[in-house]
Amino acid sequence: MPQLFVDETLNMHLRKLELLQIERRLDAIIEEETFSQKNFKEQLAVLLEEEINFRQERAIRMRLKLAKFPLLKTIEDFDFSFQPEMDKQALLNLFGLSFIEDKSNVIFIGPSGTGKTHLAISLGIAACQGGFTAYFSTFANLMETLRKAQQQNCLRRKLQTFNKPHLLIIDELGYLPLDRNDANLFFQLVSNRYESGSLILTSNKTYLDWGNLFPDEGIAAAILDRLLHYSKTVKIQGQSYRLAMKRKMGLFAKP
Ligand SMILES: Nc1ncnc2c1ncn2[C@@H]1O[C@H](COP(=O)(O)OP(=O)(O)OP(=O)(O)O)[C@@H](O)[C@H]1O
Ligand SMILES: [Mg+2]
Repeated sequence: MPQLFVDETLNMHLRKLELLQIERRLDAIIEEETFSQKNFKEQLAVLLEEEINFRQERAIRMRLKLAKFPLLKTIEDFDFSFQPEMDKQALLNLFGLSFIEDKSNVIFIGPSGTGKTHLAISLGIAACQGGFTAYFSTFANLMETLRKAQQQNCLRRKLQTFNKPHLLIIDELGYLPLDRNDANLFFQLVSNRYESGSLILTSNKTYLDWGNLFPDEGIAAAILDRLLHYSKTVKIQGQSYRLAMKRKMGLFAKP
């Protein structure tokens, strides 16, 4: 059979089966010396692995894109020596991602600049790499979206979309006080996700202060009850990393 005909038939089959990465890389892989030393089954395994790896990486890229992380901060970028009081092992255990399988929550609480957003994003990235879907939003943006949906009579649908990702990250709760309507909307969101999907929350307020954040203690208690039922709280202490870096650069005096 002429080589050209073989090539064309093979490419046609690969395209029909949507094995596009094998189609793209076939000639280069065949050229590799180690490939020619393998038997047929081994060669087939190499080619299929190429396709599977490509698809997995493409799926991770897609999940990262859909997650809308404002920055790509990873746990490798996190300097634990700056947080000597943090239980490093407990934090690293979260990267096993069993909290997502268990549909439980992680809540980062600490002062400004101590790495709450960084850690929340890094867990979100790990989730995407581990096959889970994630979505990141600041609390302010989330509330704005819910308010808009309420005005347009599509709140139910919007709440359902926030229920879809395995992991929903809500950054910066407690930076602005909530009115009754906002508190109600947030309650509906938390209550919808309760036992059905994981949340990561970051806040610069302690739980004691959460009571003042909401217009009445009843709704604060109802929200906290659901959030904390299955949850892990990571308390971060210490000074702001942002300011520490500025001090290092000589922009601020030492405290
Ligand atoms: N321990 C750390 N190691 C490396 N970088 C850090 C660390 N802590 C914070 N940072 C960096 O400092 C900056 C501020 O951190 P981050 O935004 O996570 O703080 P935050 O706790 O979310 O603060 P805020 O409450 O103001 O939102 C980011 O650029 C973050 O990557
Ligand atoms: Mg933050």
